[in-house]
Amino acid sequence: MNIIFTLNHEPIEIDVDPAELLVDLLRLRLGLRGARPGCLRGQCGSCSVLFNGALAAGCLIPAFRAYGATILTIEGLMDTPDYQDIEKGFIRANARPCRFCAAGKYLSVHALLESHADPTDESLQDTLSGVWCRCTTHQRLARGVRYAADFRRRRVQRGR
Ligand code: FES
Ligand code: FES
Repeated sequence: MNIIFTLNHEPIEIDVDPAELLVDLLRLRLGLRGARPGCLRGQCGSCSVLFNGALAAGCLIPAFRAYGATILTIEGLMDTPDYQDIEKGFIRANARPCRFCAAGKYLSVHALLESHADPTDESLQDTLSGVWCRCTTHQRLARGVRYAADFRRRRVQRGR
C-alpha cells in the first residue's frame, strides 16, 4: 500500500504493509530511532510522536494511518529552538530525560507549550503522567517544564 504524508516537515511517499506499525516504519525503515518500543500497549510513552499535532503512541497506529497526516518525531524537533528551550529547562531542573523516555517527554512538553504558554498545574500533571519514568520526581519534571516555558516565552518576546 502506497502512502504519502509529511514527516518532520518533509513530504514522504513509501510502500507499507497493512500490518506494519508506525513505530516500526519510523525506526526500522526510515532510521528514526528516537521513538522506542517499550510496553507496546500505548501506556509508557516511549514510542511517542506528534500526529497532526497531538501526542500519539506509534505502537498503536498502523503505518497506513499516516496517509495524509503530518508527523513530527523527536528527530524533527531536535534542531529547533523549541527543543533547546525544553532541554535547557530540564537541565536547569536536573531532570534531563534518558533515551528511553526522551521522545515522550520532549514531544509531550512541546505539544503542551504550543497550547499553553504558561501551563497550569493540571495540564502539567496530564502531560507528565503520559510518560513512564521512575528516575525523578513529578515536582522536578514540572519545574523543568516551567523553566522551559520561561525560556520559550522570553525567546518569543525577543522575536527569535
Ligand atoms: S511502546 Fe508505545 S506506548 Fe509504550
Ligand atoms: S529519565 Fe528516562 S525513564 Fe526516567
